[in-house]
Parts: sequence; structure tokens; C-alpha cells
Amino acid sequence: MAAPVTPQISPSILASDFAHLAAELQAIETADWAHVDVMDNHFVPNLTLGLPVVEALARVTPVPLDCHLMIEDPDRWAPDYAEAGASSVTVHVEAVRDPVATARAIRAAGARAALAFKPGTPFAPYADLLPELDMVLVMTVEPGFGGQSFMDDQLAKVREVRQAVSRHGGQVWVQVDGGVAADTIARCAEAGADVFVAGSAVYGAHDVPAAIADLRRLATEAS
Ligand code: DX5
Ligand code: ZN
Repeated sequence: MAAPVTPQISPSILASDFAHLAAELQAIETADWAHVDVMDNHFVPNLTLGLPVVEALARVTPVPLDCHLMIEDPDRWAPDYAEAGASSVTVHVEAVRDPVATARAIRAAGARAALAFKPGTPFAPYADLLPELDMVLVMTVEPGFGGQSFMDDQLAKVREVRQAVSRHGGQVWVQVDGGVAADTIARCAEAGADVFVAGSAVYGAHDVPAAIADLRRLATEAS
């Protein structure tokens, strides 16, 4: 079942040069979002950046920030990322204690609220949360690092989420993150994803705007 909205590309700055983040954001001005991976070395075994850096990025970015929180206690921190200037804030279902209250707090702070699922986490027990959400993120790698291989077995979950969204009738986006590239994005779009995170496939390309345009075209053709 194809996605009903135009595909959106969200390059992950995890694959960019952290010494030149303002320039790296400028390089993706033709994208729809900038995906910001926040890792705390507890929820995942890697440490990236936090609120002060997101605040600084929000001041200079040409595209809205899509913050993916791979942290413990997102109930406490997620609304602060919205306040800091993120336009979308994603928390992990494996970490959040009260997903409804947290999603409402994110929305009240002016951002879109999203819920992420690690590869081993089923979606079905949480389908009732869709009215509280603006996006569901289906991880297509184990969260923690860029540059990993796409997990094909997650496409069934993408299909399941898309079907639940269609039944629910609301405008909930379906995002995929991890190993999304020119050779995998069509399968994601066919399965019903409509927001595509790509780190190495964008920042590893010689021509970044061309890589973004290519991914968008491939997703559109497959939608
Ligand atoms: C992984 C991150 C991803 C990562 C994707 O935990 O959530 O956003 O940056 O990188 P690629 O596209 O290289 O797999
Ligand atoms: Zn991510």
C-alpha cells in the first residue's frame, strides 16, 4: 500500500562533518528536514549531541529540525527539544514511560510528536496511540550508529504501520531510518513509508543536492 503524501527526505547530520555543522545544514537546503540524532550513551552505546547544540542548529538551519531522541527518560527531555526549536520530536517506545503525556507535551510545545520502534519491538500493541501521534518511525537498523546495512525484515512493520494509519484515517507520517539509500528507498516507499532518513547516502555523496533529488525521485516513482 503506497503512501498518500509526497515523499519527504530527512538527511541525518550524524553522517556530516561535526566541525562544520552550519555549513552541513546549508548543504541540505533542498531537503525537507534535517534529521538530528540525539544519543545519550545509555539508551544506545553512542554519544552525540544535546539541547545546547540543537538550540544552536535551530538558529541557522534552512530546513526544520527532525530530532530523533535515542535517550533514556524522554518524558523529561522531549518537550525541551521542541522548546529548543525542533519542529518534530521523536521518542522511543522502549524508553518512554507515558507516551500519551509525552506526545501531548511535545505538541503543546509546538512540535510534531513521533514514536520510534527498534527492529525487535512490535508495533501492534501501540496502534491505539496513533491519534496522539504525527509520525511513526520504523527503525531499519539497530539504533546507535550510521552506515549500517538496511534490515529488509522491517518492511513488514512499515506495511503494518501504513495499514493502521489508513484505518485510523489521520495524517500520520511513516518514517524509515537506517540504511536508506538509492538501492533500498523504493522498497520502503512501496511498503508505505513517506519520510526517509538518509545519512551516509546523502553526506557520503559527491553531490549532496543531487543525492537528495535522486532519493526523492526514486521514492516518488515507487509510491
Ligand atoms: C541510527 C540513526 C540514523 C543514522 C542513519 O541510530 O538513527 O539516523 O544516522 O544513518 P545511515 O543513513 O547512514 O544508515
Ligand atoms: Zn535517526
